[in-house]
Amino acid sequence: MRSLKVITSAALVMTVTSAQLAMSQSSPPLEPTEAGKAIFKRANCFGCHKWHGDGGGGYGGAALSLRKTELTRDEIMETVACGRPGTGMPYFARGAYDSSKCYEMSRHDVGDQIPPEGGLYLRGPEIEAVANYVMDNVKGRGEPNYDECTNFFGKTSRVCDSYKKDSPSSGPLQSAEPSK
Ligand code: HEC
Repeated sequence: MRSLKVITSAALVMTVTSAQLAMSQSSPPLEPTEAGKAIFKRANCFGCHKWHGDGGGGYGGAALSLRKTELTRDEIMETVACGRPGTGMPYFARGAYDSSKCYEMSRHDVGDQIPPEGGLYLRGPEIEAVANYVMDNVKGRGEPNYDECTNFFGKTSRVCDSYKKDSPSSGPLQSAEPSK
């Protein structure tokens, strides 16, 4: 009796595991925010816009703040797909200004104002995911804070130390006091 039960549950575990494995091999079951964040990292958006999206000087010139952006979700998608002519904001859609026009312009129309090519091409759903990420987690946010930073980099990263509030190192007087 007892051994039968053990065998049954072992078989059950195996079934579940292989089902999960099959799923993770076909399409990684990321939740939407994680998917968008992953693209924000992979496409190096944060290289220019910084992890917090507030922008600043980057190798593509001064990237605008995505926290202060007034663009709609659709406009963000278009900006990512097509870049922005005459600026350092790259395009990420394969065939932009070519097989599909951007801002109603072909490669010929846009001429030397063509934005740089992104480091990789993003597919439609990926552009949508990163636009959703900007809409839900970046646009309209105030000052970047510690929790947001560790959400982006993970808790173990020291990159976020400078955002720690009430940290003993935030002032010489405070650090002299016994920490309680
Ligand atoms: C090589 C640097 C660079 C990279 C990489 C980059 N951007 Fe940009 N981005 C810029 C610059 C520069 C601007 C400002 C363009 C301008 O002056 O109008 C900009 C503008 C934007 C805007 C328009 C903001 C507004 O309010 O008008 C959006 C949205 C945007 N970027 C999103 C992204 C996303 C999402 C990614 C990643 C898929 C990304 N960018 C990658 C440099 C970059």
